[in-house]
Amino acid sequence: MADFFEDLVPVAPEGTGYVAKGDALPRIDGHAKVTGQARYAAEYLTDDVAYGVVVNSVTPRGRIAALHVEAALAVPGVLDVLTHTHRPRMRKLDLFYKDMTAPAGSPFKPLKDDEIHYSGQPVALVVAETFEAARYAASLVKVEIDPLPHETNLLANLARGHKPTPLKAGYSPPPKPRGDADAAFDAAPVKVEAEYYAGVEHHNPMEMHATTVLRAPDGHLTIYDKTQGSQNCRWLVSHAFGLSKSKVTVKNPFVGGAFGSGLRPQYNLLLAVMASLHLKRSVRVVLTRQQMFTFGHRPETWQKMKLAAERDGTLKAVVHEAIAETSRREDYCEVVVNWSGQLYRCDNVRLGYQLVDLDHYSPIDMRAPGAAHGVHALEVAMDELSYALAMDPLELRLKNYTDHDAAKDLPYSTKELKACYRQAAERFGWSQRKPQPRSRKEGSEWVGWGMATGQWDALQMFARAGAVLHADGRLEVESAASDIGTGTYTVMAQIAAAAMGLPMEHVRFRLGDSRLPVAPIEGGSSHVTTVGSAVEGVCEKLQKQLLKLAQKMPDTAFAGARLADVEFVQGTLRRRGDAASAVSLTGILAAAGKDRIEDKYLMLPHALKQKKYIRAVHSAVFCEVRVDEELGTVRVTRVVSAVAAGRIISAKTARSQVVGGVVWGISQALHEETHADHRLGRFMNHNYAEYHVAANADIHDIDVIFVEEDDRIVSRLGAKGVGEIGIVGVAAAVSNAVYHAVGRRIRSTPITPDKVMAPAQEWAAGDSAIGINAGG
Ligand code: MOS
Repeated sequence: MADFFEDLVPVAPEGTGYVAKGDALPRIDGHAKVTGQARYAAEYLTDDVAYGVVVNSVTPRGRIAALHVEAALAVPGVLDVLTHTHRPRMRKLDLFYKDMTAPAGSPFKPLKDDEIHYSGQPVALVVAETFEAARYAASLVKVEIDPLPHETNLLANLARGHKPTPLKAGYSPPPKPRGDADAAFDAAPVKVEAEYYAGVEHHNPMEMHATTVLRAPDGHLTIYDKTQGSQNCRWLVSHAFGLSKSKVTVKNPFVGGAFGSGLRPQYNLLLAVMASLHLKRSVRVVLTRQQMFTFGHRPETWQKMKLAAERDGTLKAVVHEAIAETSRREDYCEVVVNWSGQLYRCDNVRLGYQLVDLDHYSPIDMRAPGAAHGVHALEVAMDELSYALAMDPLELRLKNYTDHDAAKDLPYSTKELKACYRQAAERFGWSQRKPQPRSRKEGSEWVGWGMATGQWDALQMFARAGAVLHADGRLEVESAASDIGTGTYTVMAQIAAAAMGLPMEHVRFRLGDSRLPVAPIEGGSSHVTTVGSAVEGVCEKLQKQLLKLAQKMPDTAFAGARLADVEFVQGTLRRRGDAASAVSLTGILAAAGKDRIEDKYLMLPHALKQKKYIRAVHSAVFCEVRVDEELGTVRVTRVVSAVAAGRIISAKTARSQVVGGVVWGISQALHEETHADHRLGRFMNHNYAEYHVAANADIHDIDVIFVEEDDRIVSRLGAKGVGEIGIVGVAAAVSNAVYHAVGRRIRSTPITPDKVMAPAQEWAAGDSAIGINAGG
């Protein structure tokens, strides 16, 4: 198959030179991005591309009675309008629509039939020669729907909670109770009991979801999609349309931010392929910002916590129950409550997790899914308990610190959380904190300090990498990985350059193409442990080849040497610490008469070793807020986050991940919520004017500390992964600081001005008020 485009592979600038694991390198894709050379999914245009615009239902549930497309078809330039009655053949069975991260149930299939499952559901795709014609024609499509009763209100339906079908990779249901949490709670002298609520959040990456399908004369489809996994999308497209995998290539060389929304292929992909197959030409479909609110979201979640302690702070009982929304078609599950049985030592723990089916699209992963809510409730409740005990919140956590997971009776592979607490507290100046809430006012603002703990899983999946070392000393490494804005290009090139002792600018790491060696979706903070380990593995295989070739050279200094006896430094192979023995890698290839050597490596996690440990990353987050009670505003003026996530492979990109997570945590704490009008069953604030995300002016000092661990159980690199941990605990630290500032406990996110100003302790106006029961 001929490529339509030669995808740009970013390379470090000349002069970058030799690098080591851990170095703080600037992103090698930065230049291509700011100069516009890096193309995103919607930007791969050819002369024959047709433009598709989606028409969405505004009714949440019902059946399509009529679809009037005549006016749209009459618009000059319109090629066709695809609907459930007018589209190419698609397979019917659910199993053909199961992408690699699909939860249990029946995946949504666009334009499948006349059934309406949610407000925002695509019901037609208008395709035209120009985007303008398609957009105008789309406004002329009239949809008549016979409505059916709908339900989108989680809080009014908590009683309908049911246990999920636990069939999603990475989901573990809550463990069985240990001890007797309820009896221990009743008997304990100090306790808190409270309910927490978090509203819906929608993904708002800079790049909207988009697909460009480029059709070759032989029918081959090259698809650029905004996705976290090119092979996942290829899998879905070939299955849904019954196409041979060799007829479909999916690419995502550049992604403008993806935080879970691209783990599952979105409807723009299937619609664009549908139109391409139907019209036999290339098609582009880009969602609008408003349409970014018409598929998965972070689920609205209700939680209840009961914590009890001895007067000295020893935890006696933890009860944590969560009820979250899912759609009627799929049981989208998150690990919400499990961390509450893990993070602190406690003998009596009862955890529960339930789902309520609503007439929305299925929720979808969003950065630190589950932990962003579950650890929030736990960490706010711990704060409440600390006040009930009149104990410092940090001291309470240290009092109940554990290196052992009681639920599974396993040790942590590594856990430097204590050092995180210590270093972050010191950097923040926590010892200067006055324990009394409402004790510091500066100007019109109350100043408060709060802290929280974060935990996330340290995951590793399997991946393959390929590598070619050329006679001129240039190294090409490849894997079907993704760089969703995290720095994958930089980190992988750095791992390879460091392993081979080659200058950074001599290494090209190719990703984002489904034809490359197998790699998982970029998700779960696992790309470094997974793809990074595969990259290091394939480099080791090249090293072995080079050593063998060097041993065949005349007067070799490497007779009998094993890999452990040699090192790859500054473009040479040499005996460890013996500069005189050095021979250049290009010299080795030249002596062997080879223009290249190549290899492949399959990295499989060491499951037997890994399952003897709990593998997790941790953080300690301290923050300062300034609250103006008259305006209801909260400013987060200082955050210190100390993260223990194994060995840090690329210090600058890792720091950026944590800073981004802190920003999003502040946004979660103060700004983000999508409101549904339950009468209409529809999300209302589906735009940047009304869905607020933290802007530059909302962000002040953020200080990131890495407490390094060397975790060879999680990965051969010693790394554990740093994507999601950055957000976990941040909103809790903000909430706790707000309490310390003004002495008012706000148990729902976001903490909007109305809640700050409210005289009573309330949340989710109009729904059941929550009783407060803190105190000993
Ligand atoms: Mo992230 S929710 O693992 O993309």
